[in-house]
Amino acid sequence: MTTTANELQATAQAIVAPGKGILAADESSPTIAKRFKSIDVESTEDKRREYREMLFTTPGASAFISGVILFDETIRQAASTGKRLAEVLEQDGVIPGIKVDKGAKLLAGSCDETVTEGLDGLRERLTEYKGLGARFAKWRAVIRVSDALPSTYCMDANAHALARYAALCQEQGIVPIVEPEVLMDGAHTIERCEAVTTETLQRVFRELQRQRVSLESMLLKPNMIVSGSECPVQASVAEVAAATVRCFRRTVPAAVPGIVFLSGGQSDEKATAHLSAMNALGAHPWELSFSYGRALQAATLKAWGGRDDRIESGKQAFLHRAKMNSEARYGRYTSAMEAAAPTASGDKLVSQD
Ligand code: 13P
Repeated sequence: MTTTANELQATAQAIVAPGKGILAADESSPTIAKRFKSIDVESTEDKRREYREMLFTTPGASAFISGVILFDETIRQAASTGKRLAEVLEQDGVIPGIKVDKGAKLLAGSCDETVTEGLDGLRERLTEYKGLGARFAKWRAVIRVSDALPSTYCMDANAHALARYAALCQEQGIVPIVEPEVLMDGAHTIERCEAVTTETLQRVFRELQRQRVSLESMLLKPNMIVSGSECPVQASVAEVAAATVRCFRRTVPAAVPGIVFLSGGQSDEKATAHLSAMNALGAHPWELSFSYGRALQAATLKAWGGRDDRIESGKQAFLHRAKMNSEARYGRYTSAMEAAAPTASGDKLVSQD
């Protein structure tokens, strides 16, 4: 069955419905193994299924979560009931999505920059994923910042690949989430993050338009404008919100229905506070929402600890973070709301996907 342009737009809009956002649960096998190692759990196929089933069957979460990004293994996996995990989500009113890139690989002729691969055979893989229930997809490009980086070569190679991916997704009736992540690793200032992100987004949107991607039927998943993690002067929540909104007003066309931020290594509470402060500065031309991996899962992982008797605690921790980010969608989150938190996270998880 072919998907019409109207259906694609409706899916993009449903993903950024008021009060809702995305759970990024698409960690590749090596990355989820690192997450599990942080809680001393061995990463087996069954344990990964158990963990993701815990997240996806959390009662009440679908009030705050509109979509979940899955990894290849997960979209094929069945829950303990025998029903496929993608169907479990769909039946709860949550839209299944799929990570389709094959990771950031060293860019030829460069010693420290990457280009994301996975375009070969992508059309056929998208057809298969659509048959497995995916209605949206994700492709993450990585832009590193230093005194000398990024190069225009790296920004352009990644922008070109993102646009090729997005055009193929729309052809196949899948909403593309376009993710150019300017890393927060490094000692750079918030001003430098803003300059690099602005240039990256300008190049990405130029390519998207050149390659005939419909802006109405896509979502952007960017970094926020923050100080580098090693920068001695860390910008305040208000500064991050102002700089991020300014950057996107300058670079993201109003035709794009939504911007779904990655958390990128921010603490759970910072990621929520920043999103809330941005929404409080609205109205904006696009929805400002979340597509968090670590910032939605760190507390859950810790509360669960890989133990069957702690599945309920894991669910409670996930529901709490989802609810906090839903409040942030309306710009009304306060740190006092954290008092209801079942557990607090503290450990730092490093991005891989
Ligand atoms: P983080 O929120 O942990 O950055 O992950 C989001 C994501 O999907 C990265 O591609």
